[in-house]
Amino acid sequence: MNKEVKQRRLAYRAVITGHGSFAPANKLTNEELAKKVDTSDEWITSRTGIKVRHITTDDETTAFLATEAAKRALAEANLDAGELDLIIVATITPEMVFPSTASFVQRSLRAKKAWVFDLAAACSGFVYGLSIVQQFLESGRCKKALVIGAETLTKITNWKDRTSCILFGDGAGAVVLERGEGKQRGIIYSTMSSDGDRWKALNCQAYGSRYPADKKLKDPNKIYMEIKGREVYQQAIRRIVETVNACMDHCGLTIDDIGMVISHQMNARIIESAAKRLNLPNEKVYLNITEYGNTSAASVPIAFDECVRAGKIKRGDIVIFVAFGAGLTWGANVIQF
Ligand SMILES: CC(C)(COP(=O)(O)OP(=O)(O)OC[C@H]1O[C@@H](n2cnc3c(N)ncnc32)[C@H](O)[C@@H]1OP(=O)(O)O)[C@@H](O)C(=O)NCCC(=O)NCCS
Repeated sequence: MNKEVKQRRLAYRAVITGHGSFAPANKLTNEELAKKVDTSDEWITSRTGIKVRHITTDDETTAFLATEAAKRALAEANLDAGELDLIIVATITPEMVFPSTASFVQRSLRAKKAWVFDLAAACSGFVYGLSIVQQFLESGRCKKALVIGAETLTKITNWKDRTSCILFGDGAGAVVLERGEGKQRGIIYSTMSSDGDRWKALNCQAYGSRYPADKKLKDPNKIYMEIKGREVYQQAIRRIVETVNACMDHCGLTIDDIGMVISHQMNARIIESAAKRLNLPNEKVYLNITEYGNTSAASVPIAFDECVRAGKIKRGDIVIFVAFGAGLTWGANVIQF
């Protein structure tokens, strides 16, 4: 794609040089789920597009998934973990309260030089993470970074609540970003937003400072995720459309210039409805929710990894990552891959 994209003149660019993903082997189909709660394959498929989700075993933790995805991304980038300056793990299902999941990933990868932290922006976490790394690479502060989205949402799923348990799955995706000099390729633009007034739409309240672990919970269900599906549904479509339009305006892009839009996979109907409003043709919108369910911060990097491996995104293509989730938070990255 030879499009002259409207962008700032920069000495350095944040270039994606590797990508990888990992999902646990254990799967749960809609039919199996229908034996646990009052639902059906027909209802879940028609309302969400989901058919199956990957589920971690007790031994498979968020840091484990994150490390596996990271190893694949590093191999693709042909980079030794010892060269990394920065590791960000976007997650709302961390290894433990502290230290960060990123600390465990650093340890497993032997990424001795890196400084590391977790980022809690729910389903927007990976997009937020790319935006942060973009700043460090463009400013010259870092040369090589790893951004991982990793979640074990099924460990905070209420399997008795049919309105939420059908939606989520586990997995991880990662990208390696390196400082590119004098190259046009790289992250072109990022935007991030949030609306804390709507925090109740999606939350998991237990074991923070509001409901500490040593105090008995009045409502035992507070240890699980709670969602207000309808509210989220409407907000998600609105924010995705608004954000993708803002990206195209800012960068002077038309639909013809875009190779692929990779949305956070929260519900096939939400993505299809947003795509329709944006006049995006089907071949420019990637959907893999059928196989994974909603994996929060992991969904965009898993979808990106699959797309590149399947040849649906090629070097030089302009790709938009867009995400929306708890907080509420939302955001996007425009990338020339
Ligand atoms: C959750 C979601 C799939 C529900 O779909 P919906 O079309 O809005 O369905 P509703 O919640 O209006 O429920 C419709 C009916 O189905 C029922 N229902 C809900 N879950 C069901 C299930 N798993 N199986 C069968 N019936 C179900 C409801 O009880 C309701 O029945 P009623 O009409 O008799 O009251 C949809 O709102 C959604 O995807 N929201 C966003 C999800 C989200 O928050 N993702 C995470 C953030 S990114």
